[in-house]
Amino acid sequence: MPGVSLVGSGSACLSATLSNEALSHLVDTTDEWIVSRTGIRQRHLAAAEDSLGSLAAQAARQALAMAQVEAEAVQLILLATSTPDDLFGSACQVQAELGATRAVAFDLTAACSGFVFALVTAAQYIRAGAFDTVLVIGADVLSRWTDWGDRNTCVLFGDGAGAVVLQASDRDRLLGFELCSDGTLNSYLKLPYQATPEPLNADLAVQKGTFAPITMNGREVYKFAVSRVPEVIEKALFRADLTTQDIDWLLLHQANQRILDAVAERLQVSPERVLSNMADHGNTSAASIPLALDEAVRAGRIQPGDTIAAAGFGAGLTWGSAIFQWG
Ligand code: ACO
Repeated sequence: MPGVSLVGSGSACLSATLSNEALSHLVDTTDEWIVSRTGIRQRHLAAAEDSLGSLAAQAARQALAMAQVEAEAVQLILLATSTPDDLFGSACQVQAELGATRAVAFDLTAACSGFVFALVTAAQYIRAGAFDTVLVIGADVLSRWTDWGDRNTCVLFGDGAGAVVLQASDRDRLLGFELCSDGTLNSYLKLPYQATPEPLNADLAVQKGTFAPITMNGREVYKFAVSRVPEVIEKALFRADLTTQDIDWLLLHQANQRILDAVAERLQVSPERVLSNMADHGNTSAASIPLALDEAVRAGRIQPGDTIAAAGFGAGLTWGSAIFQWG
């Protein structure tokens, strides 16, 4: 059975930033409140002319360049997103923009767990021998669906995109994983479609509406994350026949610095081994893990051969962990 290697990473650079101070002119909040409760100092926002697809393609191009892989060599593009430009999916637009003419492309939606779910899904195609070169992209423009008058949520989110290239290899560097869902907790975090009936005739009505802004029960999401995330990482480590002592980096979905700290403490991982770009980016949903990965790779923090325990968690609710070696 072929193994899986992660051979390149990339991310999109969004120049527009919104500081906590600027946010405090939109809603009743302060820099001090946001920093002390979340660790976020600013977030990057997509420009009005940016599409989700163009940000995803930008991250993908960087990842392909690092991997020294031509777009024509990519056989599968998995785009993890909850904010496509088109409800029919945005992956094919990314395929076209990249010129990845041989690739099949589709979207995968698992909110903030999307990147981990897509990484594991892509790895199964490689292990099965179906494809040997795959692009996995996590991208979200949650600013489109944020209620900018709701201080409970608008301080948390930012926009971004990150990508990795996976290739078939002799040694399998995806060492273990575990994925979970619990739809009974769905109401804690939602971006729901809301419709009213539009009659077509006396007997028939169709639904007409739009998506309502993000709603969140912050305290319940917090409790869920700090209990379930350590558990799922330990299960994935068990499958990899490793312990937390064996990992070089803990790479969690960047939701809240306090969640990162609490999970690291439960797993007894020292703060120097926890990757965080919360302060600069906030929560970029499916983009957060590949974005933090790419920044750490480009900064020379993550080195080839380093073992990384990644974990995503979010709406669904969904959560999952993948343990892998970089490079
Ligand atoms: N500025 C100032 N005050 C605020 C703000 C704000 N931006 N937001 C809420 N408050 C107020 C509340 O109204 C409340 O006031 P009250 O006591 O008068 O009612 C007070 O601050 C405390 O509110 P709490 O909700 O108890 O604050 P908490 O300490 O729990 O922090 C937070 C809130 C940051 C949202 C926290 O619960 C959290 O991080 N939860 C996890 C959220 C998360 O990670 N979501 C995303 C994960 S999934 C995904 O990525 C899509």
